[in-house]
Amino acid sequence: MADPAGYVDSLAKSLHVFRRFPLQEVQGIPLMEPIAQQWGPIESFQARPDDLLIATYPKAGTTWMQEIVDLILARGDAAKARRAPTHIRIPFLEICSPLPVPSGVTQLLNAPPPRVIKTHLPFQLVPKTFWEQGCKVIYVARNAKDNVVSYYFFDQMNKTQPEPGPWPEYLQKFMDEKLAWGSWYDHVRRYWEERHNHCILYVFYEDMKEDPEREITRVASFLEQPLTPEQVAAVVQHSSFEVMRDNPMANYSSIPTALLDQSISPFMRRGEVGDWKNHFTVAQSEAFDAHYQHRMGDAEPHFRTCL
Ligand code: A3P
Repeated sequence: MADPAGYVDSLAKSLHVFRRFPLQEVQGIPLMEPIAQQWGPIESFQARPDDLLIATYPKAGTTWMQEIVDLILARGDAAKARRAPTHIRIPFLEICSPLPVPSGVTQLLNAPPPRVIKTHLPFQLVPKTFWEQGCKVIYVARNAKDNVVSYYFFDQMNKTQPEPGPWPEYLQKFMDEKLAWGSWYDHVRRYWEERHNHCILYVFYEDMKEDPEREITRVASFLEQPLTPEQVAAVVQHSSFEVMRDNPMANYSSIPTALLDQSISPFMRRGEVGDWKNHFTVAQSEAFDAHYQHRMGDAEPHFRTCL
């Protein structure tokens, strides 16, 4: 594990270097400026065969899957999983802050194997050594409507992302594929298409909500970590929304308010399928669906927007 106290300390001492960073494109994908400016070490990152990558479009259920994986590796032992905050246990590959805050790559260079790594990079920007080394990848996808609502609230409270502005304009930016990490449409589809070419387990947020026990068992078997029924039950319990919401090691409360202001919107916000209905107007929903049909057609993957 990277040095948790050191990381948290360096964050706390460096709050002045953070601001709402503009986006800058890398190979046509808009990314936060510090990531684009320090792209070299990310692109040349050396993966190891025993690295496990958790890949998602932002707000698709990354943290939930991180907690599940860590609990599986701990065989359901919640105390072990509470050894450090999520971002220390499972570093974020491409995250770059202005110095002296260590980048995700620096954290990972100091992390002992086997490493579990988070990324939001679209398939084509993932460092190629992950594919060359045959690393396992867990991809979590969430229906576009809930995904964009979650992203909207996150961008309000995350003081390092561009100002989200009013909801109608934000929704349009999502449809125009202009938000950080680029197009949701290309992201979910490309990993889907590549899942049989590489060692990719494709998991839907909606399936995790519907039957966490089933999906956790699927993940455990993908990781070749078969669990007893008691261990599965422990993973289900400790990765539930309510438990994670109240767990300081899983709810991002260790990040200073100047970066993530949870008084604006908590990180563990709703955790539901279908919350989009509370935010889309009927007209917005119809326009979104028409654009979605035009953009995605009937191609897989297919998503459920309610359970
Ligand atoms: P909402 O904003 O809809 O509540 P990410 O980790 O990729 O940033 O995704 C965050 C989203 O996943 C948030 O969605 C958050 O509430 C939800 N989430 C996190 N843990 C969860 C859990 N245990 N069960 C259900 N949803 C969870």
